Amino acid sequence: MSTKNSLTITDNRTSKTYELPIVDGTVSTMGLRAIKTDEKDFGLMGYDPAFMNTASCRSSITFIDGDEGILRHRGYPIEQLAEKTTYLEVAYLLMNGELPSAAELETFSAEISAESSLHENMKGFIQSFLPNAHPMGMLIAAMGALGTFYPDAKQVLDAKVRRRQIARIIAQIPIIAAWSYRHGVGKPFVNPDPSLGYTANFLSMMKRGSEPRYAAHPDIVKALDVLFILHADHEQNCSTNTMRAIGSSQADPFSAVAGAAAALYGPLHGGANEAVLHMLNEIGTIDAVPQFIKDIKAGSGGRRLMGFGHRVYKNYDPRAKVIKSLADRVFDILGKQNPLLQIARELERIALQDEYFVKRKLYPNVDFYSGLIYQALEIPIDLFPVMFAIPRASGWLAQWEELLMDKEQKIARPRQIYTGIMLRDIKR
Ligand code: SDX
Repeated sequence: MSTKNSLTITDNRTSKTYELPIVDGTVSTMGLRAIKTDEKDFGLMGYDPAFMNTASCRSSITFIDGDEGILRHRGYPIEQLAEKTTYLEVAYLLMNGELPSAAELETFSAEISAESSLHENMKGFIQSFLPNAHPMGMLIAAMGALGTFYPDAKQVLDAKVRRRQIARIIAQIPIIAAWSYRHGVGKPFVNPDPSLGYTANFLSMMKRGSEPRYAAHPDIVKALDVLFILHADHEQNCSTNTMRAIGSSQADPFSAVAGAAAALYGPLHGGANEAVLHMLNEIGTIDAVPQFIKDIKAGSGGRRLMGFGHRVYKNYDPRAKVIKSLADRVFDILGKQNPLLQIARELERIALQDEYFVKRKLYPNVDFYSGLIYQALEIPIDLFPVMFAIPRASGWLAQWEELLMDKEQKIARPRQIYTGIMLRDIKR
């Protein structure tokens, strides 16, 4: 094998050869621009719709090996993080590269608690939506609106200002989520309870009634905290790519999170957990599973087995494994089985042995079982994508800050292959 770490390309149009260095398993597509037929030629570009094979950045936050089903944050396996840390510790890890010491965690938690309130006007903003408004639409709008309450957030190149906005967004996204839910069910808004931890506080703002304090079952809090850990970051997924693209124009982080949440809302991305529950309800019984699988394989109406498949994982999504075992724990704690779990299990059993799915390496992903746990926690189906957005905000923000600090980055502006009419005159 040659020691030359490069590609030699021959342009058969001109018989010229070009040497492109191979760096970190990539070749620079800007290097293709040198390949021209003459001086006037713009040069070659790479063409990669949906970025199937394009690295857009260097990042040290999350590592995924799709073939092996590996997910690590700053080098720590997701399985260990789920078992041994809390969501706030993972959020700190994503931002800072290391798990916090006890003192660092105390400071970080205090910074977030200090920002855990919403401007009074945000109540009216949330109440202005129809009661049946989808909470993801409310979240997207509220995040954009929040940016107008914090004009200093535009100073994205100031590290101290960035950190304050990061604390504000991590602190306030669960409040917006809970208040959107309360608006939908016609219940008064509940303020954060400073005596509760981050995840317990979210449950209190969701569930508290007239009682002075709502403390959820500690095992339920832990289960939801694990779900938050599992959803925190996932390298360059669709919504993170959106966060980076918006961040590259130096827009404020609230506007960038609003855009990222909009991308997450799609049923092919974070909206899949909601779509899985609708799918399981539609199937209805275990005996209807074989016919449903047949319909999916027949491709009738372009239907997909929601919660299955992944652009990167061509193996079992490691998060789905953790969530599947978490589901059993939650049902035991709550003393109730969700009949849809049996349908999900039967779907998985059949799919994992069916040639159609095996050939396409389609396995359960993070969205396949998560909704069943949210349902057991009596979280409404349309809030499921919001449950994804709450923890993913820390991943988006960590990736956003990494982009702003990356000397190789500038405003994202891809090129195109023009297929339209080149020139014509208006004849009038
Ligand atoms: C998330 O990127 C991330 O990291 C995302 C995420 C994160 O944490 O940020 O992991 C979160 O978004 C998980 C994915 C949630 N989405 C779903 O569960 C929706 C259902 N799955 C898909 O539609 C699909 O699998 C995607 C969108 C997830 C990935 O699609 P790709 O990589 O673009 O694959 P593709 O659409 O080109 O499909 C390849 C083939 C096609 O068949 P053929 O044309 O070869 O015959 O596989 C088939 C597809 O029809 N296929 C499916 C399928 N997913 C792909 N067939 C049936 N059911 C499915 N779910």
